[in-house]
Amino acid sequence: MHDFHSMEYVTKWAKGVNNPVRESVFYHVVAHLTLLPYDSLHVVELAPGPGILAQVVLSKLPQITYEGLDFSRPMLTLAQERLADFEERITLHHVDLRADDWSSVLASTPSAIISMQALHDVGGETEHERIYRIARDLLRPGGLLLNADYMRRSPEDRSPSSLEIKQHLTLLKANGFERVKCTLDFSRYGCVVGFTP
Ligand SMILES: C[S@@+](CC[C@H](N)C(=O)[O-])C[C@H]1O[C@@H](n2cnc3c(N)ncnc32)[C@H](O)[C@@H]1O
Repeated sequence: MHDFHSMEYVTKWAKGVNNPVRESVFYHVVAHLTLLPYDSLHVVELAPGPGILAQVVLSKLPQITYEGLDFSRPMLTLAQERLADFEERITLHHVDLRADDWSSVLASTPSAIISMQALHDVGGETEHERIYRIARDLLRPGGLLLNADYMRRSPEDRSPSSLEIKQHLTLLKANGFERVKCTLDFSRYGCVVGFTP
């Protein structure tokens, strides 16, 4: 079990988490952001933890501004330290994504909402449905929702997530996203995307 509210636990977690598969997912996310047809991009990351994906995104895409939302103060402390070089482009918020009003903290309209290896920790179908619905209402027209996470391939699959890739796709379509698809199905990861009309 994770203890995201313990500095000792999250420091250890952040030190041991990286591997080549995760790194390839980071660049998959960067590629999707690069293809968005906007001059300026405002990216919101849900549950960024220690800011590892954010560091890659902010260094590869100098035109973006960024907000990260996480409920773990120790994770936010690590993220603030890791992202110190990008201080003027980032804002981090202490927010529980199970709340109905998590989006009220945001300063700007997002062009993209992204998440990596995290929403399975926030909850199951009910929480995903709520997050996807709120994200759809927040994003600018043509905006991107991208969720790269542990996802099941079948109901029998052993995975930290309770949701299958096809359930994510169904939830995105049911909540008004267009051009919904699975863009990555690799190792324990799935990546699903959808765009607002
Ligand atoms: C496994 S970590 C992944 C962190 C980061 N996305 C990464 O891949 O490096 C999961 C993150 O989800 C956050 N989290 C879990 N439940 C949450 C909730 N209800 N609201 C906000 N953040 C939450 C944790 O604090 C933690 O930072």
